[in-house]
Order: sequence, then C-alpha cells, then structure tokens
Amino acid sequence: MISTKLTTLFNIEMPIIMAPMFLVSDSNMVKAAMKSKIIGTFPTLNYRKEGELDSILKELNSFKNEIEDLGTYGVNLITQKSNPLYKKHLNICIKNKVPFYITSLGNPKEVIEKAHKYGAKVFCDVTNLKHAQKVFSLGADGIIAVGQGAGGHAGPNPLHILIPSLKQKFKDFPIIAAGGISTGNGLHSVLVLGADGASVGTRFIASHEAPVSQEYKDAVVNAKSEDIVMTERISGTPSTIINTSYAKKIGYKQSWFEKLLSKNKKTKKYFKMLIQLKGMKKLEKSVVPGNYKNLWIAGKSVEFINDILSIKKITQNFKNELEESIKSNRF
Ligand SMILES: Cc1cc2nc3c(=O)[nH]c(=O)nc-3n(C[C@H](O)[C@H](O)[C@H](O)COP(=O)(O)O)c2cc1C
Repeated sequence: MISTKLTTLFNIEMPIIMAPMFLVSDSNMVKAAMKSKIIGTFPTLNYRKEGELDSILKELNSFKNEIEDLGTYGVNLITQKSNPLYKKHLNICIKNKVPFYITSLGNPKEVIEKAHKYGAKVFCDVTNLKHAQKVFSLGADGIIAVGQGAGGHAGPNPLHILIPSLKQKFKDFPIIAAGGISTGNGLHSVLVLGADGASVGTRFIASHEAPVSQEYKDAVVNAKSEDIVMTERISGTPSTIINTSYAKKIGYKQSWFEKLLSKNKKTKKYFKMLIQLKGMKKLEKSVVPGNYKNLWIAGKSVEFINDILSIKKITQNFKNELEESIKSNRF
C-alpha cells in the first residue's frame, strides 16, 4: 500500500519498526512483528545470561528461514563504553549474521564496519543534525531521529523541526521518526514531513505479547501525556517514565555527588556502569507483577493508547488509520 525507502530496503508491508525496549521486547514480540510484516527489534541487553543471546538469534534466524513472507528483525546495541557487554554482544550478532542493527548512545563505527562485511544494514539513533552528520560520514545506512516525547532517552527537538531539517541535509538518506507515534495519523504526519517510516515503542508495551506485568500495561493505558516525566535516576541520562508514586518518592535528579562522579574523568566510566547497573535492577523489579517500587519507562504517546491489543491488531490499526488519514485529504 505504501512504499518508502524503509519498506523497499527491508521488503516490509508497513513502514514501521517495533522499537527496541529494554526489559520489554523479547523474541516472541519480534516474531509477532515479523508475522505482521514489519521490523521487530530488541536490545541485546535483554539477553544477558551466558549463551542466551546466541540461542535467541539462532531461533530467530530459523524462524525467518522457515516461514515465507515475513518482515525482518534487528538488534539494538548500546555502543557506549559503559556497556560492559558491548564487544561480546557485537561478536555474537556478527557471528549469527543479524540482518539489521540499531545503534544508540555511542560511536557506531565498529558495528557499521563489521555488519557491512556481510551486507547487514545499520541505522543509528540520533537526536540532532551534528550527530546525524557524524553517523552519515561513518557510512550508516539510515538514521532514527529521536524526538521529544519518545519513550526512553527522548531527544530535545520536536519531530516537526528535526525531520524536515534532517531531510534538507540528507536528501536521499533513509530517515525514521521516533517519539510519540502511536496512531496511523501520527505515522502519516511524519511521512508528510519527509520521514521514511516510524520507530514505535510505547504503543507495543500495551500488547498481549509484551512480557511485562499487567500493572505496567494498565499504567500505559491509563496514563496521559502529562503523567510522563524525565528522570536521571535510571541510567544517569534523562529517561521518560510514568510518574508513579515511587518515581515521585525517589525524585528525578542525581545528587551533586553523583553528578560529580559522573563528570570526573577518572570515575566517569565506572560510575556510569554502577548507576546503570543499579537502574537496571530497579527496572527489572518493576516489570514483574506485584512490585510496588514501580519505575516504568513510557513515552508521551500513552495519551492515545486506550487498549491492550495483539501486535497484529496494533499493526492493522496503524494500516487502517493511515489509509483513512491519507484518504481524508483534509488539507
Ligand atoms: C520501555 C522502553 C524501553 C526502551 N529501551 C531502549 C533501549 O534499550 N535501547 C534504545 O535504543 N532505545 C530504547 N527505548 C527507545 C525506543 O527504542 C524508541 O526510540 C522509543 O520508544 C520511540 O518512542 P515512543 O515510545 O514514543 O514510540 C526504549 C523505549 C521504551 C518505551
């Protein structure tokens, strides 16, 4: 129905990437996304136990080979120095010939070089023109422009500025919009701005397949955009969360001492690792049922999420709403 650089590059039906979500996206969600003929992705950090990532990738590769007419899958690598599993995970992904990579937070050079050796594609998360220029010159195959209101590490710029400004500069380069898109209307709007597709996270938390607690899914359905706040208490880098009573209790800022340790050259790397580890533990507890210390990552698109649906139905709704929006021809 709709053809963009994203749909042609990956031979998919809808220009949608189911975005990588820490502690949320797993292989079942990815398979459901592939069956819905979109791209399903997950952060490699969701599989931290020895041997786990390798077996998941083998499982996804055989799923892809056995069934015809599927979408595809990809992994997200946090290329930051403070990710202790980066090198190990990259090598496992390369060995298993992962077809698609999304890099975030650090320098993607090594991923691009290694992935290109066997024809895989690498898209890089960026939040501004400067970073986009950098990944473009390193040979990335596309960029994911993360704007305001996105779930996780949201960018500072609204998509209505970010997408057209990137488009002006990188005319024939695939640009994917991320942040606040949970309806076909929203998808239509970023296509009009010049994007080749959308990377959608928060909408897929409220799915039957998401392996998180019912409380977390219900919180996404019940929250409104003003319930989404930024906190530094998870990874040091500001991240969007639902403003639960626990989030309010622990506050949103790092203390002066934490700030000092995260800026000092000698302590920076190790302190960040420690903060991330502590943040990860808090998040891990939050996604299981019955926990009251709730730190739930979600973006402002919760405003339009009113139901928990299957991934197939979510994709179908995007398709129907996009068609409607294009047909309505209001302007
Ligand atoms: C629960 C959650 C976890 C996330 N974890 C990651 C992650 O591990 N790595 C990453 O690059 N982005 C992560 N993100 C950001 C998403 O990949 C994507 O950019 C974002 O969800 C898009 O905005 P939206 O949530 O408004 O659709 C996360 C987002 C959410 C909601």
